[in-house]
Amino acid sequence: MAEQLDTFTAAERQPIAQLREIMQVRKRGEEPLAFVHTYGCQQNVADSEKIKGMLAQMGFSFTETPEDADFILFNTCAVREHAEDRVFGNVGALKNIKRHHPSVIIALCGCMMEQEHVAQRIHDSYPFVNLLFGTHQIRNFPQLLFTCITDSRRVFARGGEEQDRKISEDLPTRRDGKFKAWLTVMYGCDNFCSYCIVPYVRGRERSRAPEAVLAEFEELVQQGYKDITLLGQNVNSYGKKPDRGTNFAQLLRRLDEVPGDYRIRFMTSHPKDCTHELLDVMAGGKHIAHHLHLPFQSGNDRILKEMNRHYDRAAYLELIHYAKHVMPDLSLTSDVIVGFPGETYEEFRDTVSLIEEVGFTSLFTFIYSPREGTRAAKMPDPVPAEEKSRWFQELCAAQEQIAAKRCACAVGTVQRVLVEEQNPKTGLLTGRTGGNIIVDFSGDASLCGTFQMVQITAARNWILTGELCG
Ligand code: SAH
Ligand code: SF4
Ligand code: F3S
Repeated sequence: MAEQLDTFTAAERQPIAQLREIMQVRKRGEEPLAFVHTYGCQQNVADSEKIKGMLAQMGFSFTETPEDADFILFNTCAVREHAEDRVFGNVGALKNIKRHHPSVIIALCGCMMEQEHVAQRIHDSYPFVNLLFGTHQIRNFPQLLFTCITDSRRVFARGGEEQDRKISEDLPTRRDGKFKAWLTVMYGCDNFCSYCIVPYVRGRERSRAPEAVLAEFEELVQQGYKDITLLGQNVNSYGKKPDRGTNFAQLLRRLDEVPGDYRIRFMTSHPKDCTHELLDVMAGGKHIAHHLHLPFQSGNDRILKEMNRHYDRAAYLELIHYAKHVMPDLSLTSDVIVGFPGETYEEFRDTVSLIEEVGFTSLFTFIYSPREGTRAAKMPDPVPAEEKSRWFQELCAAQEQIAAKRCACAVGTVQRVLVEEQNPKTGLLTGRTGGNIIVDFSGDASLCGTFQMVQITAARNWILTGELCG
């Protein structure tokens, strides 16, 4: 079957030029302002950069103050209840802004909006929201906004089955960072972990063509980006759907061959698809950071099975063992869920013992949150919230000690650090090691955006202090 690249067509671009004119008239020649707020993961951050790219082409500048904006957009996350509550709270607060500034256009997009019950609630209870669109509709954003403004009506657009096969290429992008960039290599997720809403709101897995990824990557390196993170819900299944004839390890090797002074990272890796081939490519790479984010979720085999994760504790530890063997300086990070339905204290303790065995640099820990429509949401969940909260504290305390120990081990080493910014309060420069650990040191602001060798002199909790090597 012929390759369907789905480039951004002239017809899809046309409303951008029209909106530019409309906004100029509306603002009587003054620059229109947009406020874009992003919730959730890097995937959403990358999507927001595309939407901001389109807004910039429509003539918008950007503001951090919603009260000043002519267009307000929240790009939302559905992964946990807390994330959703925050969005509803903040959307509610926009009502006041609308009252004082009735011409402001209020828009919501992202993962939450792909859920029927959320779209319905926004429709019924938040009448001041003008535009709502889902994760599959980003390329249609100019047309949707155009309709919303020219027809003066509310526009709601959510994904359809056929959208699941689309891969949008060539959308304009306005990147937030000067040295760090996100590069999406695959969209969607087919794993259906029993607790997770992502496959329902992001659709089926689909990988970009390796040529398209390579072209964007080369452009980023040429533009001077130094820390490029390849993104996907499960980058390790890159190239399977549609069959790209290239797996993730091979893609990574190809990108690593691009000449230049930069670092590559990737996230997220699913352990069930993480191969020795990938770890070997990391170990042998010229530019690949020795940092692996490999979420294990639980250290207990029964829970892992209930979560539908398709690996067990032994398989996870085998991978870690091999990864440390080929990269002795590897920095490991992970995601963990505490209090999955039916988890007992003994089963939770297997998670604590796993983190002690592995020694993660840092951990993203979450208390299980039921998501409507997922399998786990229907499972009996007898452990009270206060009990889960105690387990959560126990896990965090254990990890704090591990992180402090790991950081202390770095004292005396020399690290290659990408200098990111000067702290306005302390005047110190701040950067990150290949392992993604923060390092503070004295130096000139002109070093921002360069790699420097830094001798680590002290560690406090999970932040390192050092001195520039002369
Ligand atoms: N695709 C990535 C993670 C996406 S969501 C992966 O598979 O690793 C990021 C993290 O949120 C997950 O790793 C998990 O730890 C957490 N998470 C997802 N759904 C959750 C839920 N219902 N309750 C609590 N945490 C959840
Ligand atoms: Fe969710 Fe699992 Fe997919 Fe990650 S791999 S996005 S946790 S379903
Ligand atoms: Fe949230 Fe969507 Fe990412 S649900 S975690 S923003 S893929």
